[in-house]
Amino acid sequence: MKEITTDRIVIVGAGLGALYAALKLAPRPVVMISPEVLGEGASSAWAQGGVAAAMDPLDDPKNHAADTVKAGAGTVDADVADLVTRHARDYILDLTRMGAPFDRTADGGYVMSREAAHSFARVVRVKGDQAGAEIMKALIEQVRETPSIQVLEGTMATGLDTEGGKVTGIAIQDSATGRSAPVMLRGAAYLLAGGGSGGLYAITTNPPRIRGQVIGMAARAGAEITDAEFVQFHPTAMDVGEDPAPLATEALRGEGAILINKDGVRFMQAVHPDAELAPRDVVARAIFSQWQAGMRPMLDTRDVLGERIKTQFPAVAEACARNGIDPALEPIPVAAAAHYHMGGIATDTDGRASLEGLWVCGEASSTGLHGANRLASNGLLEALVYARICADDIIAAVPVSKNAAIDTPLDIQFEQGGVAPDPDAVMSLRQTMTSLVGVVRDEAGLKEALRKIDALEAAHSDSPSFMNMCATATLIAGCALLRRESRGAHERSDFPDTDAGEGLRSKAQLTDMLALRAKIAKDTV
Ligand code: SIN
Repeated sequence: MKEITTDRIVIVGAGLGALYAALKLAPRPVVMISPEVLGEGASSAWAQGGVAAAMDPLDDPKNHAADTVKAGAGTVDADVADLVTRHARDYILDLTRMGAPFDRTADGGYVMSREAAHSFARVVRVKGDQAGAEIMKALIEQVRETPSIQVLEGTMATGLDTEGGKVTGIAIQDSATGRSAPVMLRGAAYLLAGGGSGGLYAITTNPPRIRGQVIGMAARAGAEITDAEFVQFHPTAMDVGEDPAPLATEALRGEGAILINKDGVRFMQAVHPDAELAPRDVVARAIFSQWQAGMRPMLDTRDVLGERIKTQFPAVAEACARNGIDPALEPIPVAAAAHYHMGGIATDTDGRASLEGLWVCGEASSTGLHGANRLASNGLLEALVYARICADDIIAAVPVSKNAAIDTPLDIQFEQGGVAPDPDAVMSLRQTMTSLVGVVRDEAGLKEALRKIDALEAAHSDSPSFMNMCATATLIAGCALLRRESRGAHERSDFPDTDAGEGLRSKAQLTDMLALRAKIAKDTV
């Protein structure tokens, strides 16, 4: 394999965590592996709600931390919740300085939305539902102006090279075709910030390229994975036949939008005292159950927002218009969709993974913040906080090379020779995950999923990117099989209770999950 050695720190990904870390690492030379043109294809840019932060003088980071712990259903690390929420306000001020145009009140304060399971309106937003896109835009501008950052647009990472438990290189390919021969990039340190796994599911709100590849790549290199079974389903993805499914932000329910079914019945009041503002997992299950029963769940914004939805929630209004829905006149059909992976690469409070030389931030990481049910709008906050932690720790841990020169960009020419994932195999994997490892799971379905993943992987093992997807799918299904209880977003119809003794976070090595999968595939378990 062709090799390139650089003094640059290699960042995999181009979402909020990757951009913010690259900026905080400056002037240390960085190379970012970005599958698309910056700003396209990253989940962060699709985030509608905003960033949760106790900005109001009447609010307190301690309340934010307590809400995070409560929502997480017994598996949140309280110290991490404290770490992330304590200085959330400073991150909002920093983003503001960097040009993020947060919505402001007449007296200069921040407009804050209420979202489910928050005890306070504490989600700062941009132009209603444009937070992710606008914050990304501001940071991309800064990145483009920072000479120490080189962005390799159109490249993706497909493998980690290790020696004695230390990461020594990252294999990258051309992402446009996925068919180039891999090139081994050997850098000064490696930061994974390449997103989660939502697109492993056939019904998802995630951008098409986000299919668990980064988590799978780290797992295949031996990194420990935690909480893999905890996948969050967003209750109100629009059920309009688009893949990915457009999001109808939770902030709409924060404004008072209600959920009804085809008979006009408002069903959440019978499910939870907080009705539409119940924790996200509760609402997702209720929507799923209505959807499965053919009751066509819908989000009704007519009374509470009327025509205002078009100016206050432009992304939602645009998706409605594209699908011939006028939300001022008719309710929006919705379905539960894979949205956020709470689990991922086990990461300590310095942002370090279990492999030496490897740091992780954002959705690919599993820090212990989210537990079994992430509190809305904590995802972008966690990405910011850990991006900074990783940058600080890398600066402290990795000596500056005497050769480090910011004006020598890498020149990488790809040659033909790689194998892209087979689109039919990817679709089959996604359908397997949605139908057997989705909102409601059971032993028979999870075993069947593992058998199907085993067969798909065996038939397509020549594509490293597909192997990475299968690794993450195996971890999700395997850990879901081993957690014989229901907790947060992980619902087992055969173990409906939350087991008082089972709250511990799951830890997994891919090799163990592959052994379990092999036994199941042979029908010995
Ligand atoms: C939303 O806007 O509903 C999504 C927010 C989030 O997932 O944090």
